[in-house]
Amino acid sequence: MDLELSGRVALVTGASKGIGLAVARTLADEGAHVVAVSRTRTAELPEKAVHVAADLMDPQAPARAVARAVEEFGGLDVLVNNAGGPPPGVTLPRVGFLTPQDADWQAMFEFNLFSAVRVIRAAVPVMLERGGGSIVNISSGSAVQPGAMNVDYGAAKAALNHVSKAVSEEYGSRGIRVNTISPGPVLTDWWTKEGGAADVISAMAGADAATVVTSVAPEMMRLVTGRLVRPQEVADAVALLASPRSASTTGADLAVDGGFRKEL
Ligand SMILES: NC(=O)c1ccc[n+]([C@@H]2O[C@H](COP(=O)([O-])OP(=O)(O)OC[C@H]3O[C@@H](n4cnc5c(N)ncnc54)[C@H](OP(=O)(O)O)[C@@H]3O)[C@@H](O)[C@H]2O)c1
Repeated sequence: MDLELSGRVALVTGASKGIGLAVARTLADEGAHVVAVSRTRTAELPEKAVHVAADLMDPQAPARAVARAVEEFGGLDVLVNNAGGPPPGVTLPRVGFLTPQDADWQAMFEFNLFSAVRVIRAAVPVMLERGGGSIVNISSGSAVQPGAMNVDYGAAKAALNHVSKAVSEEYGSRGIRVNTISPGPVLTDWWTKEGGAADVISAMAGADAATVVTSVAPEMMRLVTGRLVRPQEVADAVALLASPRSASTTGADLAVDGGFRKEL
């Protein structure tokens, strides 16, 4: 299937590793001009991708990144708001409503909601000039599974879902589609880095980190596939939603979660 992404301009946040890197590579392989935003550039990013070094905790960074896409390629067709998860310096999972304090809540919303809001705000006028575009926001299954674990993270992602739907309603008639993807647990640094989620759960469950990844976490999260999601599986879903082949899909949420979500 030709995704008709060749020559389109795509901005991807959090593109240096994990899901964002898989997205940047996939869109570049499809022939898109990729503008990759993260604090650092990694060797894995496609050479032809334009890298914008930016800290998305800085409120000025999103507008600068969008301006750079316009400067380099004359506009913007695809926006993938992928940066998110634990804000810099934070480790998730974090258990208990009473655990995160004001500063924790603020950082969580800054990274997972406000940065995406700011990028969308900068991108919409630019997309309108081109007659539309596709925005894909990477949310999480946690947005719709409230509980004691990661309440601030889930709340920020739930708000991102709300914003995504609202923007899809407002701008659908002018050619901008907005969708979310809700991954389940994805095998990225978030899980595997030293002190990451696998280590945290390992300390709780009394199993080593490798066993957490291969069996404890899939069982705990009741994944019907029995394994964590691969970043490429999320990237492939992003490419489809970014593509004009999805022209009638807007305001939707696509779960790429190994069966994490149980509701109909
Ligand atoms: N992994 C999961 O289990 C999972 C599950 C559900 C949803 N998600 C969602 O998927 C998205 C990606 O997660 P991931 O697991 O792929 O993350 P990851 O592997 O930790 O990568 C995070 C990316 O964000 C960038 N980043 C971090 N802090 C930044 C900052 N202050 N400013 C700009 N960029 C920053 C990182 O690059 P630099 O460090 O170079 O800045 C990196 O490219 C997030 O929205 C997350 O909520 C993940």
